[in-house]
Amino acid sequence: MSALVVEALSRSFGGLRALSNVSLAIEPGERRLIIGPNGAGKTTLFNILSGALNASSGKVKLFDRDITPLAPYARAKMGLARTFQITNVFPRLTVLENVLLALLAADRSVFCMHQRMHDNERLFAQAHAYLEHWNLGAIAARPAKAISYGEQRLLDLILAMAMQPKVLLLDEPTAGLSAAEVVRVVGMIRSLPKEITIAMIEHDMDVAFDLADRITVLHQGCVIAEGDVDAIRNNAQVTEIYLGAD
Ligand SMILES: Nc1ncnc2c1ncn2[C@@H]1O[C@H](COP(=O)(O)OP(=O)(O)O)[C@@H](O)[C@H]1O
Ligand SMILES: [Mg+2]
Repeated sequence: MSALVVEALSRSFGGLRALSNVSLAIEPGERRLIIGPNGAGKTTLFNILSGALNASSGKVKLFDRDITPLAPYARAKMGLARTFQITNVFPRLTVLENVLLALLAADRSVFCMHQRMHDNERLFAQAHAYLEHWNLGAIAARPAKAISYGEQRLLDLILAMAMQPKVLLLDEPTAGLSAAEVVRVVGMIRSLPKEITIAMIEHDMDVAFDLADRITVLHQGCVIAEGDVDAIRNNAQVTEIYLGAD
């Protein structure tokens, strides 16, 4: 059973066909990189996968279940989480408070009143553990707006992980980062638990080739190539599009 399946997905904005008959299947634990020039339809695809946007036609399946009609929160509850191209943290709250909020959102048991004190302590411990695990313990008490942009992207990833996702959608997690910050974010993505399925949009080809099990190439709303790193690296049409694009 595939983790995530897209069947004949199309989406138009007025006269513009942003996605045209896109199909793909991502296997459990796979790292699937989605690449393609600006305007190819990558973010539109992720918006439809997460439920932020409706498809004009086609289907999305999560572990064999048709989730096409489901709202974003229902998909999230089923284990589909995403980060955003624009960072998603609460700027005035501390890093720790941001993680606590994400854990609260993911954990419905805290609404049981008599469990409250115990759960608060458990959640605090869990939030600290997340931050320590991802080497952000030192900035736990700082307001999220005061940490570096790279640290905000790491925090964004931690917030998505707090949802305990089965499938994680990452839209350009390295966009706008310095070379050193890219290394840190890529390192974190590489160290995510292997059982989590990851679909990731990436602009930087070196990062994409580095992380991918398989790569899907979108161009003008269509899948023009799919394969492992070697196949995509040696694909003449892909090379041509990238040389022509920049
Ligand atoms: N909400 C929208 N309304 C109108 N056009 C949109 C909207 N979202 C995306 N588009 C258009 O759809 C195309 C694909 O955009 P997008 O999915 O953001 O591409 P990518 O992420 O690959 O750069 C672009 O031409 C873009 O201008
Ligand atoms: Mg995009």
